Amino acid sequence: MNQGAAERLLRICPEASLLYRVIGQEESAASGWLLNAMPAPGLTELAPRVECCWQPMRYHVLRLEALGLKVADATVGTYAWAGVLPMKSKRATLGMLARAWSCLAEGGRLWFAAANRHGARSWQHILGQLGQVRVMSKSKCRLFRVVKHLRHQELLSSWNQQAEPEYLEETGLWSEPGLFSWDRLDPGTRLLLEHVPDASVDSCMDLCCGYGALAAGMLARGISVGHLTLVDADIRALRMAERNVRGFDVAIRACWLDAVREELPGRMELIVCNPPFHEDQHRDSGLGQSILARACNSLRNGGQLWAVANRQLPYEQALHDAAGAVRVVVQQKGFKVLMARKVR
Ligand SMILES: C[S@@+](CC[C@H](N)C(=O)[O-])C[C@H]1O[C@@H](n2cnc3c(N)ncnc32)[C@H](O)[C@@H]1O
Repeated sequence: MNQGAAERLLRICPEASLLYRVIGQEESAASGWLLNAMPAPGLTELAPRVECCWQPMRYHVLRLEALGLKVADATVGTYAWAGVLPMKSKRATLGMLARAWSCLAEGGRLWFAAANRHGARSWQHILGQLGQVRVMSKSKCRLFRVVKHLRHQELLSSWNQQAEPEYLEETGLWSEPGLFSWDRLDPGTRLLLEHVPDASVDSCMDLCCGYGALAAGMLARGISVGHLTLVDADIRALRMAERNVRGFDVAIRACWLDAVREELPGRMELIVCNPPFHEDQHRDSGLGQSILARACNSLRNGGQLWAVANRQLPYEQALHDAAGAVRVVVQQKGFKVLMARKVR
């Protein structure tokens, strides 16, 4: 993606814009980092002062890199300032705040912005446990700044602990806060698992795999798979998915990919997919259509795609156009299972 295209894709995200603009005005050091960095207005100007960013979603990473930002997974070193944007999951956000705080130098500044409708007021209270909070309100958002004077080891451990992966007895799988349906099997996923055929295959892709509930469920049922490809845009999900299938007798390939914008592995005999219908807070049925159509292109001739979706989502035409044959296998409790077969 070139810089012009990335600029066009900048999102209107008021809390991110507020964060970037104020940091840009108040921080002069080029040694800050951004956690859950989002492409948003104001980031291009701030970029020269950002040493690195952390962002789990591949589609954001592509845009951040196109703007010239360095995106890193692990963090080493200390920073003069850190800017954090909240995730939907409070527990995942607490984990990020703990990482940001622990990597700040003594006297370093933690910046955090949240939209009022996403609980900005309650974050003010939480951040107050770290020190005195300076607050600024603008564009229906609040921006907070806390200066690091104390390490708060115990508090940070408890925040970290809340965000860590867990093995859940109920699902028999590893997962972590912030992932799709992280602590219970999604009813759509369950329905799809009940209908995927038992036949063994030599290649299978769990597309948009989350923590791997579909792939792990199929393998646990005894479906024999030669090569399993896991794909997700969320690096945290992909790691959990790998962990959940590791114990099975199958060759595994994990791909951190944006299934809309990047090339998918091809020549699959079977693809299973519970596609997303929103990116961040933005609902979009075109997203699922696009991912499913691209999935069909990854099938070999005669290969099958099994997908589940909310009943009202219009995916049939896109599947028909891309694969050649599609049928509704079952409709139940607001969901439908679709099967497309590649005949062209
Ligand atoms: C509805 S969840 C399904 C997760 C899992 N298959 C399940 O059934 O529990 C959709 C998944 O798609 C991933 N996703 C969203 N946008 C994506 C994209 N552009 N490319 C690849 N994966 C994406 C999300 O991270 C999420 O894990």
